[in-house]
This record gives sequence, C-alpha cells and structure tokens, in this order.
Amino acid sequence: MQSAYAILIFSACLFGVFEGCFGALPSSIKTCPRNHPDPNRCILDAVNIVRPLLAKGDLGDGYHTPPLEPLYLDNIEMGRGNEFRAVFSDIQARGGSNFIIEKLKANITNLSFDVYILLPKIEFVGKYSLKIRLLLLNINGKGDMRGTFKNARAYVKMRGIKVHKDGNDYVKFKELPLRIKVEDAQIHLDNLFGGDPVLGQVGNNIINDNHKLFLAEVLPGLEKGLSKSFVEISDNILQTATFDEMFPLE
Ligand SMILES: *[C@@H]1O[C@H](CO)[C@@H](O)[C@H](O)[C@H]1NC(C)=O
Ligand SMILES: *[C@@H]1O[C@H](CO)[C@@H](O)[C@H](O)[C@H]1NC(C)=O
Repeated sequence: MQSAYAILIFSACLFGVFEGCFGALPSSIKTCPRNHPDPNRCILDAVNIVRPLLAKGDLGDGYHTPPLEPLYLDNIEMGRGNEFRAVFSDIQARGGSNFIIEKLKANITNLSFDVYILLPKIEFVGKYSLKIRLLLLNINGKGDMRGTFKNARAYVKMRGIKVHKDGNDYVKFKELPLRIKVEDAQIHLDNLFGGDPVLGQVGNNIINDNHKLFLAEVLPGLEKGLSKSFVEISDNILQTATFDEMFPLE
C-alpha cells in the first residue's frame, strides 16, 4: 500500500518532472539539458521546486499529474496456491507528498535512472480480503482496513529504451522493477475471522507483533502489481514527448 504510494509519487513526480524537466512544460518546472554537468543535482532541484504542487497535481499552465493527497489505488491482488491470497482495494493513502528522494543516479545518455525514495509517514484506509498463514496460524478475513507505515523506502530501477515512430524517437520503459522496505508498520484489519471479536484481536496482534513477517508475504506481490501500473502510467505520459523535447541539447 505504501509502496503503491511510492510508485505513484514517483510517477507523478519524476516522470512528470522528466517530461516537465525537459519538454514543453509548465513554468513551475525547471529544465535540465541533456549535457548538464550534474544531472542528478538538476533533477533533484527540479523535484524540490515542484513538490508543493504535486499534492493537488496542478502544476499550473494546464499541466496536471495524478494528485498525491490523497492517492487512490484501485486493486492489488496476489496469491500463491491455496495457502496464500490477498486482495487490497479502494485504497486511499495520505502523506505521499512528503516524499524525499534520498539518492538519484541518472544517466541521460543511456536512459538509466536509479531512484531511492523515502516516505516518512503514510496513512492508509481501504478494503482487504485475505487468507494467510503466519507463525503456523491461519488468518483470514474480509472487510475494512487502516494503518500507518513509517519510513517506507522504495528503490526503482529504470532502464529506458528509445523507440522510433513517425520520424521521432520516444522513450519507453518496458519494465520498472522496484523494491520496497518498511521500517515500522501498524495495521488494523476489521472483521477478521468473520467478525469474531476475540480472534480478530488475536489476529491483529499477531500481524502487528510480526509485521516484518506479514509484510514479507505481502510486499512481493505488491511490488509486482505496482510495477505493472507504473509501466502503464509511464507509457501514458511518455508517448506525448519526443526524446529531443524531453532531453534538449541546451
Ligand atoms: C552514461 O552512460 C554512458 C553509456 O553507458 C557512459 O559512456 C557515460 O560515461 C555515462 N555517464 C555517466 C555520467 O555516468
Ligand atoms: C548506463 O550507465 C549507468 C552509469 O554509467 C550504468 O550504471 C548503467 O548500467 C548503464 N545502463 C545500460 C543499460 O547500459
């Protein structure tokens, strides 16, 4: 969930900034030319300038990105045989606009970008349905959920290619693999075990006391699902600007 956040933030911001950074853009976006001596610094500065506008997604001059506050995520599903399945839906997350890019390694020449993002605090609500085995205990339920993630970190590995179309080069990211880590998590699942209050409390205690184990089960599926929607979003944004517009020589 917080990973969803990280990725969307990333897409709203970084892709927005790339397009913005280098293309025909709102004036709120600072441009970084292809031969900039320090592209990492330039992109980070551009992100910091535009960050306050990302909460609402209104960058001015008619340019919009998906709003970060709150961020909506529709459906994240994962499963592994009969043992484990989880669906999270109607997720609404707050706090993403406070993201910090801790490290960025950009190479515009070969379209390689390694991005390390820190999300100090994400609060989320949504719906869940899950069946999971944790510490030899079968936990299942379906209902509302809420929670907080503190110090979530996402690493996104972007390797772009140029695609030639109608006499122009466009940038494409075929895959956007990402990894997510969460330092501290509080999760509450309503209606565990069909609403049994005692078992429900026990289930929530077990999940929270062992949130690292719980997240280890849930995060890989989340990473995959998010990566997929991330590719769709980037395709959407990147098809409008050519490589030369995005990365001008001057
Ligand atoms: C970027 O990648 C190209 C091609 O791999 C390489 O020649 C160049 O030195 C790299 N630039 C930086 C700043 O790492
Ligand atoms: C591009 O260059 C960067 C830095 O020089 C390097 O880490 C990366 O592996 C290169 N990517 C490709 C696809 O060659």
